[in-house]
Amino acid sequence: MPKNLLLLAGDGIGPEIMDEVKKIINWLNINKKLQLKITEELAGGCSFDAHDTPLTDDVLYQAMDSDAVLLGAVGGPKYDEIEFSKRPERALLRLRKELRLFANLRPAICFSELVTASSLKPEIVSGLDILIVRELTGGIYFGEPRGVEPIANGDRKGVNTHVYTSKEIVRVAKVAFDLAMKRNKKVTSAEKSNVMEAGMLWKEEVQKLYDNNKDYADIELSHILADNCAMQLVRNPRQFDVIVTDNLFGDILSDQAAMLTGSLGMLPSASLSEKDKNGRIRSMYEPCHGSAPDIAGQGIANPLAMILSFAMALKYSLDLDKVADDIESAVKAVLKDGLRTPDIMENGKRKVSTSEIGSAVIEKLK
Ligand SMILES: NC(=O)c1ccc[n+]([C@@H]2O[C@H](COP(=O)([O-])OP(=O)(O)OC[C@H]3O[C@@H](n4cnc5c(N)ncnc54)[C@H](O)[C@@H]3O)[C@@H](O)[C@H]2O)c1
Repeated sequence: MPKNLLLLAGDGIGPEIMDEVKKIINWLNINKKLQLKITEELAGGCSFDAHDTPLTDDVLYQAMDSDAVLLGAVGGPKYDEIEFSKRPERALLRLRKELRLFANLRPAICFSELVTASSLKPEIVSGLDILIVRELTGGIYFGEPRGVEPIANGDRKGVNTHVYTSKEIVRVAKVAFDLAMKRNKKVTSAEKSNVMEAGMLWKEEVQKLYDNNKDYADIELSHILADNCAMQLVRNPRQFDVIVTDNLFGDILSDQAAMLTGSLGMLPSASLSEKDKNGRIRSMYEPCHGSAPDIAGQGIANPLAMILSFAMALKYSLDLDKVADDIESAVKAVLKDGLRTPDIMENGKRKVSTSEIGSAVIEKLK
């Protein structure tokens, strides 16, 4: 059955890295007889330029209707001064909110070929393969009340509210447990139950879900304070398999875990919704990096995070696990051959362009 992919290349290097995914999709359709149908639309600054809004309703409806959304990156200095509601980043927040993408999956994998790119010692990061599951639609980024208000004596007060319901905690914990069953069967839940009531609830609900679910009996569950988790991630990151945490801690811990791998241009991500009543999951896949305006238009951006995000879409939304595995192996093989975009360049390797490394991935798929 044909699958519909909505491609939102966005701004900066977004179109350049998306071009490489388009090349791969085209190759797969012809050579592996896949039926991946793509539609390309605007989101972010380019949409603001064309339509005075970072995301039109029409594009949002197309996103809701698609089997998966692939997003390049949005933003850039050109848009820094425009009003908050029209900033390119609002496109992402609106998509996440309207598609109800509550679970953000961020793998941090240290490819053995790139082990020296990390600022940590190779023996600490070599073979690293962890997955951070971050709750994406609750917590302090969305809680009410919020705002900045004047108080007595000309002073001002800034307020944000950290709030989670049991239901929100359980649904993201389930995602973490289900993914851990397909991996190394270890889940670490990170919160601040020592100082936050919402953290206590988080810990209790995750434990309760685990205790009451026989399907998770093979999983080893542990709880960790988020600050200790940050320390352990640099001390001994390989102790972790799946880490599940809230929106705020997940934002920070997933960036920290990402940097363990040393190469921003290599990191994919997925954001998933719950199943709706027709059993359908909405999803968006994007690299962890931004629009890299400093190198946009030069043909030197690393497209591998975008390509690996596409592989995640094949796995989690399109039931094409084997093709996804083949793409991941092709990426590894290209690195093993010594091909590098400038961001991951090392002595003795061959510096190549965005398009050359994309074509090399296709060669390895053959
Ligand atoms: N999801 C998103 O779309 C997203 C995420 C983060 C930042 N942004 C936006 O992107 C813009 C730039 O932000 P930033 O500079 O803080 O972060 P960035 O990730 O765009 O860039 C940080 C550094 O990493 C490099 N880099 C990033 N991706 C790369 C790649 N694929 N290949 C080679 N080098 C790469 C850049 O050249 C830059 O030096 C801002 O407008 C920001 O708001 C968007």
